[in-house]
Amino acid sequence: MRRLRANAAMRDMLQENRVNVSDLILPIFVEENIDSRQAIKSLPDVYRESEKTLPQAVKNATSHGIQSIILFGISHNKDAIGSDALNENGLLARMIKIARKTAPDINIIADICFCEYTTHGHCGVLKSDHSDVDNDATLANLQKQAIIAARAGANIIAPSGMMDGGVRAIRQALDANNFEHIAILSYAAKFASHFYGPFRDAAGCALGNANKAPKTRKTYQMNPANASEAMREVALDIEEGADMLMVKPGLPYLDIISKITQIHALPTFAYHVSGEYAMLKIAAAQGAFDYTDALMECLIAFKRAGCSGIITYGAIDAAKLINQK
Ligand code: PBG
Repeated sequence: MRRLRANAAMRDMLQENRVNVSDLILPIFVEENIDSRQAIKSLPDVYRESEKTLPQAVKNATSHGIQSIILFGISHNKDAIGSDALNENGLLARMIKIARKTAPDINIIADICFCEYTTHGHCGVLKSDHSDVDNDATLANLQKQAIIAARAGANIIAPSGMMDGGVRAIRQALDANNFEHIAILSYAAKFASHFYGPFRDAAGCALGNANKAPKTRKTYQMNPANASEAMREVALDIEEGADMLMVKPGLPYLDIISKITQIHALPTFAYHVSGEYAMLKIAAAQGAFDYTDALMECLIAFKRAGCSGIITYGAIDAAKLINQK
């Protein structure tokens, strides 16, 4: 076998997978009512943009060839149901409009979920006794939120709350509102993960104690121990009309990605989440390895497992490296 690794040209010719800039999706945080962008303590070199700095952040991404972004709002107008996300002039709609105006041709993925907009931090409406998230009451709001996002200019709708029937409900609403052409990227297998820690710090959506709401998302996010259940979630989302699939987090769940891509032909993405990125940055700062080299190794692992693309906070760093070659 070592004959095949004898020199750089041979190794390059025989490389089975590559990360392309077009595979990369950049997450961008947008906070309302701030003037300048703010650093995030647990997420080194990632910022909460203001609505004023968002165009610059989008232009910076596209200047490196990045064609896809996903936006997350940091709301100052939270309430029990997340009604700001259902408002045509709310933060969700405004940030999508700003990004669309800045870059008319890119993919703008709207994260369809309520945790960024609710006082209790759950991903949907609570039951009247606050014992749990009310699945079916949340579906109607997901439909409204998806329409708000599509009207504002999102071309990919990404339900991330793991509500049963969410994909079907959103597909029906999109089709009934002349948005048949808008694609659904379903967070089909989203695990209840500790690796979301820095995101919750960044987005200010840790579970609050505003009321008796449960202190866990485990009634909707999946148990990290379960693979068969992930495959059932995926099959259901496909049946409900998902166009693309997402697995989240990424590296700890490569087995799930690999299983999905071996069985289903749908484009499948990985979310290399905040905690995975923070581990790289923090370990590199301690001298454990070079950050960019380790990042590229993670990204190629996703491609090897069968991913079409990757959401990563390292998208611009990876793009710079790829463009240099
Ligand atoms: C919730 C949401 C989460 C992330 C993005 N959207 C997770 C959660 O709090 O349950 C995490 C992403 C990351 O860690 O980078 N809709």
